[in-house]
Amino acid sequence: MGAAHAADAVPGATTLDHTQVEYVSHCGGCHGIEGISGNTFVPTMRNAVGAFACTDEGRAYLIRVPGVSMSLIRNDQTLADVMNFVMLRLAGSSLPSDFHPYTASEIHDLRQHPLSVPGFMQQRSEVLGRALAACSSKKSGKEG
Ligand code: HEC
Repeated sequence: MGAAHAADAVPGATTLDHTQVEYVSHCGGCHGIEGISGNTFVPTMRNAVGAFACTDEGRAYLIRVPGVSMSLIRNDQTLADVMNFVMLRLAGSSLPSDFHPYTASEIHDLRQHPLSVPGFMQQRSEVLGRALAACSSKKSGKEG
């Protein structure tokens, strides 16, 4: 993923690669360009979103949320790239060490099953509760 450099690019100015442009255009307005959405109803992703990947259920949840599964990014590989950017670049300290990147075919399958809106936040907190429990047992295994 090389950053695109226009011939007239200002040296040192920020250049975004294709995946980052997709993230900023389709996700960043709600989630913030660094995954920090501030004091809104949009969950903060920075140093937080990775915990979901501690369970298969949580890993699937991240793709089934309406903003991802129903994204206008219809190309599965592009959406996989965007979600891998979210996980590898924004999830920071919350990412479990055994995380493996999303593939286009995994995205393709999961986005066929978007989560429905009624009861969503309840379902979210149950999924996150189980994932956090799995994260802390992984960590205590590592730290003794
Ligand atoms: C219109 C605002 C909006 C847009 C655009 C949006 N999201 Fe979201 N996102 C939300 C909200 C609100 C939630 C909380 C769940 C819900 O209510 O759908 C959420 C939840 C999530 C979650 C689960 C995080 C958690 O802690 O539960 C992920 C991952 C995510 N979004 C990623 C993305 C990505 C990647 C994109 C771009 C493809 C995107 N979102 C576009 C508003 C948005």
